[in-house]
Amino acid sequence: MTRILLLGGTTEASALANMLAETGADAVFSYAGRTAKPVSQPLPTRVGGFGGVEGLAEYLRTESITHVVDATHPFAAQMSTNAVHACAAAGVALCTFERPAWQAGEGDQWLHVDSIDAAVNALPDAAARVFLAIGKQNLTQFAVKPQHHYLLRLVDAPEAPLPLPHTTVEIARGPFDAAGDTALMQRHGITHVVAKNAGGAGAAAKLTAARTLGLPVIMIGRPDVPARPIKGSVAEVMAWLSHPAA
Ligand SMILES: NC(=O)c1ccc[n+]([C@@H]2O[C@H](COP(=O)([O-])OP(=O)(O)OC[C@H]3O[C@@H](n4cnc5c(N)ncnc54)[C@H](OP(=O)(O)O)[C@@H]3O)[C@@H](O)[C@H]2O)c1
Repeated sequence: MTRILLLGGTTEASALANMLAETGADAVFSYAGRTAKPVSQPLPTRVGGFGGVEGLAEYLRTESITHVVDATHPFAAQMSTNAVHACAAAGVALCTFERPAWQAGEGDQWLHVDSIDAAVNALPDAAARVFLAIGKQNLTQFAVKPQHHYLLRLVDAPEAPLPLPHTTVEIARGPFDAAGDTALMQRHGITHVVAKNAGGAGAAAKLTAARTLGLPVIMIGRPDVPARPIKGSVAEVMAWLSHPAA
């Protein structure tokens, strides 16, 4: 009997949940619990960490999971790494959905960096107006450049004071569109964009807007995760799940 654990937190994870529900699959959806009101799913849903590799391996055994689909964000490297090791330990099949990374096109002014700290260093010394489009994690690292004004776009209003002295917080949940992001950046006089190379359509609008406005983008490359089987589309994941040898 196939029983699936779907690790979520992305648009594609939600699409997979809908497809699995439609096919009547025996599946559990898992959220980390980072947002106050996560998108509700048509599958039984659990929320919160498993307790590292050991905790996840134990969960897989206890819940008789046969297949894990890792559809977390490309920057959720800890969860993805844990999934690789826990599935190996528990003898469970693992498949990762991963969006192709964004590629710079004509008219883009991207500076590629490989870490959050490198993105901080890449910001100018003179005061700038920065669209810090990286979610709520890692904001502390930008505190060493307090001279900038930071525009943050967050799903939930911050509960604690922000570590940055000059901020504007925009509360919004994607997907976003290019016209809206262009207007947002104009309204806030943005001079620089900092982005994680998440890939996908829902968060790409800021890059189109930056191109339109001729703004530089500091693009943070993806963190490393151990080698694992990767599917590039929701359809490929569904095909993998229906294959008896998966
Ligand atoms: N990082 C981003 O930029 C970003 C952007 C958009 C959405 N998200 C989503 O937000 C969630 C957290 O991201 P993150 O960067 O904090 O991940 P992370 O650093 O890789 O994960 C940290 C810990 O959070 C728990 N966790 C993460 N994803 C989980 C899931 N789907 N179900 C249950 N536990 C989970 C695990 O705790 P235990 O070790 O206790 O199991 C994991 O070790 C992910 O589901 C991701 O898809 C992340």
